[in-house]
Amino acid sequence: MKVVSGTASTVLGKRVAEIVGGDYIVPHVEKFPDGELYVRIDDEISGDVVLIQSTYPNEKILELFLLQDALKERGAERIITVVPYFGYSRQDKTFKEGEAISARAMARHIELYSDAFIGVDLHADSIRKWFEIPALHLHATEPIAKYLKEKGAEVVISPDKGGYERAKLVAEKIDVEFDYLEKTRLSGNMVVIKPKNLDVSGKKVAIVDDIISTGGTIAKAAEELRDQGASKIYAVCTHGLFIGHAIENMKKVDDFAATDTIESEYSKITVAEVIVEGIKELRDMWS
Ligand code: R5P
Repeated sequence: MKVVSGTASTVLGKRVAEIVGGDYIVPHVEKFPDGELYVRIDDEISGDVVLIQSTYPNEKILELFLLQDALKERGAERIITVVPYFGYSRQDKTFKEGEAISARAMARHIELYSDAFIGVDLHADSIRKWFEIPALHLHATEPIAKYLKEKGAEVVISPDKGGYERAKLVAEKIDVEFDYLEKTRLSGNMVVIKPKNLDVSGKKVAIVDDIISTGGTIAKAAEELRDQGASKIYAVCTHGLFIGHAIENMKKVDDFAATDTIESEYSKITVAEVIVEGIKELRDMWS
């Protein structure tokens, strides 16, 4: 089996290829003077292909579509499209009349040239329903729990109620307490975290979230937990966007980490094994 990754997911693609023992193919990607992308795959392709590409930032979406096209042109029989970070997933419904449902638009375009889809910690599980092809929603719980165990985390906290289940799953894997904080978003980058009656005094606390974007949520949560006497504060997310002052905001915690769904120097955790399990599941289903 061949594993091909776009420029958004080169490190992760290589890791996945190593684990599955498949050929790792690096496509030729360049930019025309007008900014348009050029994609070429020089290797012979046949059978099942795994294509890995996060759809962030915007240009990587176009690259994904061109890669799918090039793979079909090269003779790929079945394409498993793995989108480690599914950009545009946060607009998964209309909040105002007339809006595009961005997550749905993405799903429909991705599946045009896909035989199966794999996403990791999607903003909402319901995004799967827009795929007519088999679509797996995988979670980074296991590698995040492993990382936090090594850090000696004693409490796992979700910064909001929505992430409570994620915090619970991580905590249960390392057998520690879990809870959530109440969060109110006042505007795009203003978040207020209301105190919760948590017994975090003297404890090493891990804040676990799906996304760190501006880092505002983590900074507020860290301030709150620090006030309550947490001895150490760790912040871990699946998708580390780290936009604007995010890295400055991370100074509020003792350590922070993200997975490699978005590749950066902060990708200290890999989801490669998680993705490989998903690939196996799909292949078993097809065999
Ligand atoms: C919200 O629903 C998400 O789970 C994250 O808490 C949010 O996207 C983080 O954003 P920021 O880092 O900008 O506070």
